[in-house]
Formats: sequence, C-alpha cells, structure tokens
Amino acid sequence: MSFDPANLDPIADESVLITGGSSGLGLATARAFVASGAYVTIADIQPPPENAFGDGQHRVNFSLCGVTDSASQTEAFKAAIKFAPSHILDVVALFAAVDDSPNLVDLGSSNGNGPNLDSLSIKCLDVNLKGIYYSTYLALHYLQQPELAPSSQTSGSGNRSTKSLILLSSLGGYLDDSHDSIYSATKYGIRGLFRSIRLRSYNELHVRCNLIAPWVIRTPLTVPLQDFMDKSGMPEGKGLTFATVDAVVDAVGRCAVDENVVGRSIAVMPEGNFDLGDDEEGLWAGAALKKIVQARKDAGNVIV
Ligand SMILES: NC(=O)c1ccc[n+]([C@@H]2O[C@H](COP(=O)([O-])OP(=O)(O)OC[C@H]3O[C@@H](n4cnc5c(N)ncnc54)[C@H](O)[C@@H]3O)[C@@H](O)[C@H]2O)c1
Repeated sequence: MSFDPANLDPIADESVLITGGSSGLGLATARAFVASGAYVTIADIQPPPENAFGDGQHRVNFSLCGVTDSASQTEAFKAAIKFAPSHILDVVALFAAVDDSPNLVDLGSSNGNGPNLDSLSIKCLDVNLKGIYYSTYLALHYLQQPELAPSSQTSGSGNRSTKSLILLSSLGGYLDDSHDSIYSATKYGIRGLFRSIRLRSYNELHVRCNLIAPWVIRTPLTVPLQDFMDKSGMPEGKGLTFATVDAVVDAVGRCAVDENVVGRSIAVMPEGNFDLGDDEEGLWAGAALKKIVQARKDAGNVIV
C-alpha cells in the first residue's frame, strides 16, 4: 500500500485525543487536525505553546495528564468526550514519550563500584510503555463500536471503520539503535502491543489500529542529537539525514481518515512514507527494512 498524504476534510468536527500533543510531532499533528476543523484534546504534562492554534484555539482543549498516572489518563479521555460537540471519540493518537535512558553497555563499563539497581532510572519505560498501555486500554474502550452504524458501511467495501487508534513507535523499534537501551526496548514493545491488538481491534471492536515508525526528526526530543551533530561539525545529510515533521503529520493524518488503512505499520523516512509490510506477506518488515537501511547507507548515514 502506498502512503501518500490524505485530504483531511473528513476529520472536520471529529473528536480527537492526542497524548504528548504539546510539543514536536504531536503538536504539529494537533495543529493540522484543528486547521481541518477537528476538536482536539491534548493530554500532556505541559500545555501547548500559547496561540499555537490561531483562529482554531476554540477547538483545542488541554487536559493536564501524566500518562503513567491511571487517574489522570482516565480524566483526559473523559475530558475529550465532554469537549467535542458529538460527545464521542473518533481518533486517538499516542505520541507521549521521553528519551532519556543510556545504553546499558555504557553503564556496565563505567561502574567500578559494582552494580546498583536503585540508581537505574526506568522513567522512559514507565512513560513510553506503561503509558501507552494505559492509553490503548482506554482508547479501545472509548473508540469501540461493536455494531457499526449503517452510515459508516460503504456499499461494496464491507464494514469500514472510521474509528482510528494510532501508536507512535519508531524506526528504533525495527533497527539496531545503540544509543540507548530503554527507549529502543519501549519502541519494540509498542510493536508487540500493536501486533497483539490490530486484528482483533478491527474485527471485534471496529477500531482501526495502525503504527507510525519515524526515522530521526528535528523536535525537542532529539535536541541532544542535534547538539551533538552541530558540535561535531557534521553537515546534515552526512552521518544523519533528518525526516520531516510534515511527513509524520501526513502519515498520522492518513491513518486517521482513510478507512482502508487497517493494521499497517508506516515508516517515515527522508525519502517519504512507506508501508513496512510488518506482516507475513512483508516478511515481518524485513524486506522493507533492507531497502531502508541500504538507502540510508548510500546517503552516508550512520545506521547504528
Ligand atoms: N523526533 C524523532 O526523531 C522521533 C523519531 C521516532 C519516533 N518518535 C516518537 O514520536 C513521538 C513524539 O516525539 P517528539 O519528537 O514529538 O517529542 P517531543 O519531546 O517534542 O514531544 C513529546 C511530548 O510528550 C510529552 N510527555 C512526556 N512525558 C509525558 C507524560 N508522562 N505524560 C504525558 N505527556 C508526556 C512531552 O511533554 C511532550 O509534549 C514519541 O513517541 C517519539 O518516541 C520521535
């Protein structure tokens, strides 16, 4: 399946919840959805920047929410349902994450006094995996439509669902990423979560579940990497080529509105967006990954 951008008109007046929507990729997605007329609730530990939505500000609702906290996540979902005039949820996109863990090999090799488990931070595990597990549980509950409304049945195309759940993993959940350990583990974990629900969520709850796996992009999350590149005098495109924020918005937008996109995993690369073929037919993403790795190597990028 090709992954060209979709026209976002169908999202007008829909009700959307975005975790981690106050910064970077989540914020850019929220802005695009609001500009297309959606009602968006942002669930985040920080508010979005003032006036980030211009004329669409009245379509944005902020719910102060730490995704590791079950009560505040539950409140965020309830707030999203209350905020939208339809009082339902149509789209849930899960961006909230941190990236602050070292590689365990560095810790192991630097600790002359012996290991101390109490000094290991597992915040990244909590936010990125426990958080998305909680969010997914709530999303499936509030998005489910065991019986499809007749209006959403397109003639000749079966029971297509307008309800969309979008999980943010990373290319770091497909390739070797030797810069940190927990972040990688959580992004692989999100793939596991995705693969455990994508078929049943569609067949039984009529919720389309898709996964986005971006390559590296300039956002607040990657500032340490950007600083490293700047300090080392590495020109962009040598060592690393960034993909764009807009390409992620395109991929998430497509998953939100295209009823034919079901159970797909989409790589966001500098060259564009690709179906990873993370299924039996695509050799569990192996064939697509081989091409992606080769393209990056040919561009002079460091892969691990
Ligand atoms: N930027 C990249 O290169 C890149 C690449 C691959 C995948 N991703 C993924 O895309 C998603 C968005 O990343 P980004 O680059 O926009 O990062 P970002 O740091 O700009 O945004 C992350 C947002 O998550 C929020 N957040 C952090 N902890 C939270 C918590 N406990 N509860 C609720 N919200 C919390 C932050 O406040 C922030 O608004 C993440 O899942 C990230 O792993 C990013």
